Amino acid sequence: MGRLKVAVLISGSGSNLQALIDACAGPKAPAEIVLVISNRPEAGGLARADEAGIPSLVVPHRNYSDRASFDAEINRRLQDAGTELVCLAGFMRLFTAAFVELWRDRMINIHPALLPAFKGLHVHERVLESGCRFTGCTVHVVRHEMDAGPIVVQAVVPVRGDDTPESLSARVLAEEHRIYPLALRMFAEGRVRIEGDRVSVEGAVTPAAALVNPGLDA
Ligand code: GRF
Repeated sequence: MGRLKVAVLISGSGSNLQALIDACAGPKAPAEIVLVISNRPEAGGLARADEAGIPSLVVPHRNYSDRASFDAEINRRLQDAGTELVCLAGFMRLFTAAFVELWRDRMINIHPALLPAFKGLHVHERVLESGCRFTGCTVHVVRHEMDAGPIVVQAVVPVRGDDTPESLSARVLAEEHRIYPLALRMFAEGRVRIEGDRVSVEGAVTPAAALVNPGLDA
């Protein structure tokens, strides 16, 4: 079986793209990044694609009169590259329902919170204001509603009393860089089954330990 052909869509620095690039390096990697698309020409992730020798292109959303024509161009580029799975990695545009349906169960996203809590923007600020003791990150299958869809992998990050949005974001981002490659590998190995809102992963092991914050020895 050939390697899964993956396209990564970005708008920014592309640190998650880098994690996926690193995971796809080497002859045993189950997936291959065939294309990187940014809607913003200044996205730092474009240099990461160049550095790795991955074809990249900019599709500026401002050049399109409506979402449907922008989405049609993205779709054309994805098809031309032979894309089998789309990974959204900090891609800051919402797709039309029609586009999402075209890529149904073949498009995943990473979000810096434990969905279905804290959808949307300014997540870390809102987590800190809420007083919750845990946050984390989520890889999910994309549905039309923003930051919604079957959950594939999550990582939990304890919130510290002295956290700022920046310190929390840094610890969550480090976990994003672990779980996005994991989710990609699970898809590439054909182990992911999506049934309604639930995902099962063949051969996956659930950790036994629960976390308590503050710790029990406080
Ligand atoms: C990440 O926090 C991701 O969860 C969110 O956007 C950010 C992208 O960061 N969707 P980067 O461009 O991958 O560094």
